[in-house]
Amino acid sequence: MSRKSISRRSFLKGASGVAAGGAIAASAKPTSAKAESSRAVEKLAGTIELELSINGAKQRVKVEPRTTLLNALRVHCEPPLTGTKLVCDEGACGACTVLIDGEPRYACLTLAADAVGREVRTVEGLMRGDELSPVQEAFWEHDAQMCGFCTPGFVMSVTGCIERNPAATHDEVRAACAGNVCRCGTYPHVFEAALAAGRRIRGEGK
Ligand code: FES
Ligand code: FES
Repeated sequence: MSRKSISRRSFLKGASGVAAGGAIAASAKPTSAKAESSRAVEKLAGTIELELSINGAKQRVKVEPRTTLLNALRVHCEPPLTGTKLVCDEGACGACTVLIDGEPRYACLTLAADAVGREVRTVEGLMRGDELSPVQEAFWEHDAQMCGFCTPGFVMSVTGCIERNPAATHDEVRAACAGNVCRCGTYPHVFEAALAAGRRIRGEGK
């Protein structure tokens, strides 16, 4: 028998040993996994009280530990902040985009508990008194919405982008909105509005 075939055989032998070991480990798993999961359920049961900072104000909410930021905003805040839209609820559309410490985040994929100690901004926090923000105004002037379901999410993504860099280019704005979907196809108007908002912030007119 050649050296090659011996080592192949021993490899296969070893592999079957590993497989058997794996089977033993797997058969041992259910009991401990079950115990683990019931301990986890115990830990997750009930409600927790969180203090969130939303649009510059403190909000205390009582929620289940698994509550998303989106749910906390829309259901548990007083008054409810329903400007952030619930569409897919699984990170596929961007309608729920908010800014957390200035960065765009899907509120449907963020636990409310993970937003504690961070500054959350939603579309309700953009106006200054009766005045629209530069991005909101540009969306209005450039007809950057049709049905409007995606609009708050786009407004927040564009706001994050333009506040970071008022001189953002068309490509940079596009990239900033890559996580937002518009089924009505208003993308060109959204990008025009974003560039116009940048010009306005830079003091170069509309
Ligand atoms: S609702 Fe959050 S990504 Fe669609
Ligand atoms: S305006 Fe209708 S989905 Fe974007």
